Amino acid sequence: MSATLLDGKALGLRIEDSLVERVASLKSRGVEPHLAVVLAGDDAASHVYVRNKQRACERCGIKSTRIDLPSDVSQEELMQVVNELNSDDSIHGILVQSPTPPSTDELSITEAIDPSKDVDGFHPMNLGRLVMGQSDGLLPCTPAGVMAMIDDAGINLQGAKAVVIGRSRIVGMPLALMLAQKGIDATVTIAHSRTKDAAEICREADLVVAAIGRPTTVKADWIKPGATVIDVGINRINDESRESGSRLAGDVDPEAAQVAGYMTPVPGGVGPMTIAMLMTNTVRAAEMILE
Ligand code: GUN
Repeated sequence: MSATLLDGKALGLRIEDSLVERVASLKSRGVEPHLAVVLAGDDAASHVYVRNKQRACERCGIKSTRIDLPSDVSQEELMQVVNELNSDDSIHGILVQSPTPPSTDELSITEAIDPSKDVDGFHPMNLGRLVMGQSDGLLPCTPAGVMAMIDDAGINLQGAKAVVIGRSRIVGMPLALMLAQKGIDATVTIAHSRTKDAAEICREADLVVAAIGRPTTVKADWIKPGATVIDVGINRINDESRESGSRLAGDVDPEAAQVAGYMTPVPGGVGPMTIAMLMTNTVRAAEMILE
């Protein structure tokens, strides 16, 4: 048996398509959705991610402005850029690409972003709303993308055992909350680097989400036959057979597809969904100013 692959690229494009109409409606009411992306430093992967986000804006008709800052930018300079974007009424979404340079404090930058423009959904107010069971605000993009993929595949998680491997504030923690929320109703275990017998815990799960950041960590024999496996990992690994000398690998061993019922590919799974959710949040943030 081989898993049904969940095509995040196709679903992401469908979601983006559905935004085109909402963007047109906003424009007819005098609002042009506008995302500001702040990129500090020269991290190669961040440059690729930001380019992909700007391309998605073009597909949806969203205006995007990119602010490039040097890798030695000071905390004060970065904070000033955020403050200016906060008070600029023509900007609806602000995204400061992570990781920010070592000369800056990423958490305090996150807290400085106006929560109504926080299209990453990382501000404590937006994460706090999620804890309170309010899921109609600006939600973190990767977890929201995972939930949208599960929903689109028609997978019912009521009473299901879910294991989220990874406890980051960007993916693992908010995703665990979303899976446990009323209406989804999964029973969630959060596993992490100190978890004993992660393989054993996963083998009982109907859903395994890997958000670890280490290539091919989750093996086929961790997976219960027929379970859903969502791979959030995007790891660049050496591959001499490629012209580039490297390729992307997920956190899950591709062999797991021989056991799983559903599985997300890497690339083309969760990655494009994160971007589609960022577009959704940007349109939502622009709509909220008219409400
Ligand atoms: N770096 C990697 N993923 C993300 C993301 O979703 N948002 C931001 N701001 N930075 C990232």
